[in-house]
Amino acid sequence: MTSFNDEYSLLAPGPVNLHPEVRKALALPMIHHRTPEFDKILKRVFSGIKSVFQTTQDVYLLTCTGSGGMETLLVNTLSPGDKVLAIVSGKFGERWAEMAKTYGAEVTIMEVPWGAAAKPEAVEAHLKNHPQTRAVLCQACETSTAVAHPIKEIAEVVAKYSDTLFLVDAITALGAYPLPMDAWKIDGLVAGSQKAFMLPTGMAFVSFSEKAAKYIDGAKFPRFYFDIRKERKANTAGETFFSSNVAVLRALDVVLNLINKQGLEGLFHDIHRRAEFTRIFAQRLGFTLYTKSPSDSVTALTVPAHLDGQKIRLQLEEAHNITIMGGQDQAKGKIIRIGHMGYIQDKELIRLIDCLGKTLNHFDHGFLSLEQISTVVHEAKEWLEQNP
Ligand SMILES: Cc1ncc(COP(=O)(O)O)c(C=O)c1O
Repeated sequence: MTSFNDEYSLLAPGPVNLHPEVRKALALPMIHHRTPEFDKILKRVFSGIKSVFQTTQDVYLLTCTGSGGMETLLVNTLSPGDKVLAIVSGKFGERWAEMAKTYGAEVTIMEVPWGAAAKPEAVEAHLKNHPQTRAVLCQACETSTAVAHPIKEIAEVVAKYSDTLFLVDAITALGAYPLPMDAWKIDGLVAGSQKAFMLPTGMAFVSFSEKAAKYIDGAKFPRFYFDIRKERKANTAGETFFSSNVAVLRALDVVLNLINKQGLEGLFHDIHRRAEFTRIFAQRLGFTLYTKSPSDSVTALTVPAHLDGQKIRLQLEEAHNITIMGGQDQAKGKIIRIGHMGYIQDKELIRLIDCLGKTLNHFDHGFLSLEQISTVVHEAKEWLEQNP
C-alpha cells in the first residue's frame, strides 16, 4: 500500500482518464440525434472543435476509431495509382502505408528508424525527385515510439508543391501540443476522441485544407461510409449524415467548453509539465529516454537492460492499479510508454514515480533501494510545487 490515493490511474497514451465532468455527461439519459436539443449541441461542437484544430475549415465528426479517420483522409483525396510518400517510423506509420497500398496508391516508404524523427531534408529530396507525389503521410506523434516528428518543417517543404498534400495523423498529438492546421499549412488532419480530447474511444475528427478539399469530388478510391461528400452536405444542414454518436458528442461539448475556459495554451502547458516531470523523474529512477525527439503526449522510457518492460508494466497494474503501456514489435520488453493526456492530477504523477520505483525494486532489490525511491519521490513533490 502506498500513502497516496490508490484510485485506478489510466496513464496510457490513450484511452485516458476521463474528466469528472465528462463522466457526468456520459451518464445522462439518451436523447435522439434528430431533435432541437441535440441540434444545439452539434452546432456548438461543429464550431468549437475548429479552435482545437486551429482552422477555419470544417471539422468532420466521424463515428469510428482514429484509423477510420486516417482512411477518411485517404479515400477523399486520392485515386488508384497516385504516388504517395509514407513516412514510416513505427506501428502507426506502417498501418497508414498499408491502408494507402490496399486502396491502390503507389506507395514509397520512407523508413525512419524506431526512436528517430523524420528529416524534412529527406522529404524535400524525395519531392524534388518525384514532384508528382500526390500526398505525404506522417504521424505527428508516432505513438509506438513516442517520437514527435517535425510537422511544421515538413509542412513547409510540402507546401512548395502545389499538387502535393500533407496528411497528418495527429491522433496522439492534436490537443496535446501546438499543431495549428491553417498556420502550418497542414492539408489533412485527423484526431482521435480517446486521446487529448479526454473522451471514450470511438470517434475520429478530421479536417481538410482548401488545397485538399479540391480533390474531394474527384478522388477515385472507393468510399461509402467515409465519403465526406455525404457528411459535408448533412453538416451544412446542421446534422451528421449517419446517426450521431450522441453520448460522445455531448461529452465533447463539455470538453470543448473546458478547453475554451482554460485556453489551448493552458492545456498544452499542463501536458508539457506532466511530460517534463515524467522525463526528469523516470531518469532519476534509472530509466533512459528512448528518443531524442520526445513528444509531450507520451513518453517512451528504455528500461534497465537486465529488466523486462512487459513485466514492469504488468506489475505496475497488478500491484499498484496503474496502467501504462509496454513496447510493441522491436521495442517489446525494452520500453514502457506513459501517456500525459487526459485528466491527470498531481497526486497521480507522484504515485506513478513512487510505484515505478517500487516496481524496479520488486524485480531487483539491488538496483534501487526503498530509501533512494523516497528521496526521488520527495524531490518529485517539490518539483511539482515549484513548477505549477
Ligand atoms: C498515432 C496513432 N495513429 C493511429 C492510431 C489508431 O487509432 P485507433 O486505435 O483509434 O483506430 C493510434 C492509436 O493509438 C495512434 O496512436
